[in-house]
Amino acid sequence: MSENISSSQPSGGAASTFRRLEYRTPAYEPVAALYRDALGLTEVEPGLLRSVDAGFELAFEVLPEAQRATETTVGLYHVAFLLPSRAALAATLRRVFAAVRSATERRTETGDLEKSTQDTFSGPTFFIEGASDHLVSEAVYLRDADGNGVELYADRDPSEWRRDAEGNIAMDTVELDMAGLLATATGTEGLCAGSRIGHLHFHVPDLESAEAFYRKNLGLKVTQRSYPGARFLAWGGYHHHVGVNTWAQDRPASEGAAGLVRVVLSEPPPGAASPAELTTDPAGISWSW
Ligand SMILES: [Fe+2]
Repeated sequence: MSENISSSQPSGGAASTFRRLEYRTPAYEPVAALYRDALGLTEVEPGLLRSVDAGFELAFEVLPEAQRATETTVGLYHVAFLLPSRAALAATLRRVFAAVRSATERRTETGDLEKSTQDTFSGPTFFIEGASDHLVSEAVYLRDADGNGVELYADRDPSEWRRDAEGNIAMDTVELDMAGLLATATGTEGLCAGSRIGHLHFHVPDLESAEAFYRKNLGLKVTQRSYPGARFLAWGGYHHHVGVNTWAQDRPASEGAAGLVRVVLSEPPPGAASPAELTTDPAGISWSW
């Protein structure tokens, strides 16, 4: 089924794109509430969701015994979906807010909201965690039912990206102009044509060994090393395709835990090792193409 995925539009100027992400989950419907219902990915079959122009897909393997993490561990921090424009980001946000509102209204009508606890809460099964302006981009953060992080973002035009004296691309975390952003929406569609997986961000035990792994095995180059506890790497001049941080310290994920397990690229990145030589990365994720 993955042969139907188009090898179109690179994200952020890279030859390689994030074509497919594979997750382990204890239950499919709760995570589908975010990716299928709120973000608008197409369900090819239960457990397989594809973007509208087949630029990428998400696959969920259901293993009822897969544990959801109760604290931040080494592994995925977030998957970041890149919208093709600020207006498209705003439209997606409007759709997400509408999905939260209707799920909450359903639960208020049935009285479930009052009697629910953390364990019984049945919708919305995802939540909005925050929003930031990163200078190169505007971003909103969510978390799915399994605790996987999701970022929705739109890039500013690369001509507006600033570089410091060392050549680092300037990134920061400042307040997002949410009202200004939402005002640009012309619709309420989800992840529209041209949306891509723009970057992946991982919790790793150590920045030095993580940088060495991604440089050697995936041909990524460091674009930013001055952010506290984090480092950013990219192919082809983008601000970052991979971010790593040590904010989970070195707490390991439990064996068989729910979460992202595999990343599949559209083609081998320049300078990459052979997939046969790759073991899992420092976040415990396996890569192939
Ligand atoms: Fe990010």
